Amino acid sequence: MGSPFGAMDFRRTLGQLPTGVTVITTVGSYGQPVGMACNSFMSVSLDPPLVLLCVGNTSSTLIDLQRSGRFCANILASSQAQLCRQFSVKGIDRFAGVPWTESAAGPELTESIAWVSCAIESEQDAGDHVVIIARVTGLRVNEDEPAPLVFHRGRFGSLSEASEPLAATGAAPRPVTGGGVRTPSGSPGTVL
Ligand SMILES: Cc1cc2nc3c(=O)[nH]c(=O)nc-3n(C[C@H](O)[C@H](O)[C@H](O)COP(=O)(O)O)c2cc1C
Repeated sequence: MGSPFGAMDFRRTLGQLPTGVTVITTVGSYGQPVGMACNSFMSVSLDPPLVLLCVGNTSSTLIDLQRSGRFCANILASSQAQLCRQFSVKGIDRFAGVPWTESAAGPELTESIAWVSCAIESEQDAGDHVVIIARVTGLRVNEDEPAPLVFHRGRFGSLSEASEPLAATGAAPRPVTGGGVRTPSGSPGTVL
């Protein structure tokens, strides 16, 4: 790695940060559905609406993403842990047994929490990954609001309820990218 620590230390330390999980889908060169599990998806900017994800530079999905220039980020529900595993395995039909519907950006996996349609705007090589920045072209939330799938320390879990409000002081919160709120700097706040 050329660093004062090993890959295991890097993975173990960064794995302390819980994330949600997405499946990034697009349309392959023969019109076939393509997708991969991805927990590096996040919001970047509200105006214009931008998101990013980091894709391994040996990923076969990367080639399809670059060719199509668009994708759908399917934000996974806690019931989709097995589906997520399936979308990280090479050499199988990842869509086998998975209900999905077509959309212009890429397949929408039916039981997801939300679907974010994106058009790629730029790419940046970053070590063994490529950072993709994309503009959000469409949004949809699952009105059933299922609990999210959480990835932490290399394991899947769930967050049944985020009950602690971010604004803990009673001061007026201000909107932030991603639809949440931010407390004034220095004030205590708990993010679940
Ligand atoms: C929970 C989870 C999160 C992942 N996040 C990413 C990610 O952010 N970027 C990435 O390149 N691979 C990520 N992967 C690994 C890819 O899904 C995996 O390498 C997949 O085989 C890539 O497929 P491809 O080579 O067909 O593109 C993740 C896997 C799992 C299980």
